[in-house]
Amino acid sequence: MHRGKSTVEHRDVLRALFSSIACAPSICVALWLSLYLALWACSQPTPTDPKSPELSGVVFGQAQIERVSEMGFPGPLSPDETNHVCDDLRAANLGHILFFDKRLSVHGDISCATCHQPDRGFTDGLALNVGISRGVRNTLTILDAAHQTWFNWDGRFDSLWSQAHGPISHPREMGASFDQVVNAIRGDAKICSQYEAIFGQFPATPLTPFHVEQAVSNLGKALAAYERRLMTGPSAFDRWVDRWRDLRMTRELDRVPAGDFSASAQRGLDLFTSRALCWKCHAGPLLSDGEFHALGAAPRNDLISDPGRFGAVDKLLASPFRTGGPHSDSPRVERAQIVESLVAQPDQWGAFRTPSLRNLGLTAPYFHQGQFATLEEVLRFYSTLDGAVTMDHHRELVLKRRDFSEQELLDLEAFLRSLDGAPPPSQWTRDPALSPPQQLPPVAVPTEKPHD
Ligand code: HEC
Ligand code: HEC
Repeated sequence: MHRGKSTVEHRDVLRALFSSIACAPSICVALWLSLYLALWACSQPTPTDPKSPELSGVVFGQAQIERVSEMGFPGPLSPDETNHVCDDLRAANLGHILFFDKRLSVHGDISCATCHQPDRGFTDGLALNVGISRGVRNTLTILDAAHQTWFNWDGRFDSLWSQAHGPISHPREMGASFDQVVNAIRGDAKICSQYEAIFGQFPATPLTPFHVEQAVSNLGKALAAYERRLMTGPSAFDRWVDRWRDLRMTRELDRVPAGDFSASAQRGLDLFTSRALCWKCHAGPLLSDGEFHALGAAPRNDLISDPGRFGAVDKLLASPFRTGGPHSDSPRVERAQIVESLVAQPDQWGAFRTPSLRNLGLTAPYFHQGQFATLEEVLRFYSTLDGAVTMDHHRELVLKRRDFSEQELLDLEAFLRSLDGAPPPSQWTRDPALSPPQQLPPVAVPTEKPHD
C-alpha cells in the first residue's frame, strides 16, 4: 500500500513535472521574450518622451540635416592674400608684442588688450567700451575673428589688418596719431629691428604721409598675423557633430552618443534650426551669415542713433587701408572688387553684422550696445520682441514673436552654451612682456615682399 500510495504520489509528481517540462519551452520563450523586450525598451530611445533627462527625442527633418551639417567646427583659416605676412610666425610674434603695447595710445596708458582682455574672451565685460572715454559700441571678441569677412559691428573694415588702425587713431579709444606710433616703433631698437626684418628698412626721414600710412598698415599686418593665432578649439557641439557625422547624420539624435552635448542642448539645436528661425541668419561654422540685419533691439537712450551698416559703406570706400587700396598686397582680390561696387542702401540703416555665436559664455554683455546682460535676456527678446523699434527705415521681417516656453528658453540657452570652444594656446594669450616670445621654426620662412 505504502508502495502503491507512494507509486501514485510519484506518478502525480512525475505527471506534474512532465507537464511543466512540456510547457517549459513556451514559458521559457515567453519569459525570455518579455525579458528581452524589457531590456530592448530600456536601451532604445523614446522619441515621444521629451522630458527624459538623458534623451532628447529629437528627429531631424531633411532641411535640418543640411543646416546642421554646415555648422560644425570651422576648417583651417584661408590665407589672406592682401596680407603677405598673415601666416609668418615672426609677424605674429611682433603683433603679439604690439597687442599688449600701450605706446600705441596717445598717453601711453591703453593697449589693445585693455579692451580685448585674454581672460575675458578678448572682450572687456562692459556694455560699452571704455578707452580714452566711453565709446558707443560693445567690444567684439578677437577669438575666431579672423574667419570673418567684414570687421566691426558695421563691417566698416574689409580685412583684419586694416581694422587695426581704427582703434589706434580713434579719439575715444587710443587716440594716437599715426606719426606718434610710427616714431615710437622706430625709437625702440628691438621692435624696430623685428619690424625691419619682416617689412624691410624704414625709408629715410622725414617720412612722407604715405610712408607713415604704409608703416601703420604693416603694424596692422603684424597684429593680424597675431590675431590669426587666437582660434578656439572644438566645442561640445563640434564634438557631437563629429559623432553625428560618423553615424551618417542620422535623423534620430538619440542614436548619437551624447557626450557633453546634453539632451536639452539637442532640443535647443532642434528649435534653432527649425521653428525659431535662428538659422536664417546664424548659419555655417561661426553661426553667422557674416551679413547685416536690423533687429531693432531698443537702443540705449543716452546714445545718438547708430546708422550701423548704412554709415559704414562710404567710410570703407574712402579708406586708403581697404583691400583694394594702395597698402594692400593684392588689391585685385575678389573681395576688393565687391567692396568697390558697394552702395549704401537705406535698408541698411541700423543694420549690424550677425555676430558669431561661438564663445558666448565669455563675451557678455550682448548686442552692439551691450543691451542685454545675459543670454537669457537675449532669448527673451527674441521670444517677445519687447521694446523692439522699427529703425528709421526698416526692420527685419523674419523676426516675429516666437513666444518660447520656459523649457524652450532653457533648451536654446543650453545649445548656445555648448558652443564655447577650448581657449587658444596659452603662449598666445599671455602678455609677452611677461613670457618669452615664440621660438622661430627651424625652416626658412616664406620670402617677404620688399618694403618700398
Ligand atoms: C577702447 C577699447 C578698445 C581698444 C583699445 C581696442 N579695441 Fe578692438 N574693438 C573695440 C570695440 C568697441 C570693437 C567693436 C567696434 C565697432 O563695431 O565699432 C572692437 C572691434 C575689434 C575687432 C573686430 C572683431 C570683429 O569680429 O569684427 C578687432 C579685430 C579688434 N577690435 C582689434 C583691436 C586691436 C588690434 C586693437 C589695438 C590696436 C584694438 N582692437 C583696440 C574696443 C577696443
Ligand atoms: C534676421 C537675422 C537674425 C535672426 C533670425 C536671429 N538673429 Fe541673432 N543676431 C542677429 C544680429 C544682426 C545680431 C546683432 C544685433 C545687434 O547688435 O543689434 C544678433 C545677435 C544675437 C546674439 C548676441 C550675440 C553677441 O555676441 O552679442 C545671440 C545670442 C543671438 N543673436 C541668438 C539668436 C537666436 C537664438 C536666434 C533665434 C531665436 C536668433 N539669434 C535669430 C541676427 C539674427
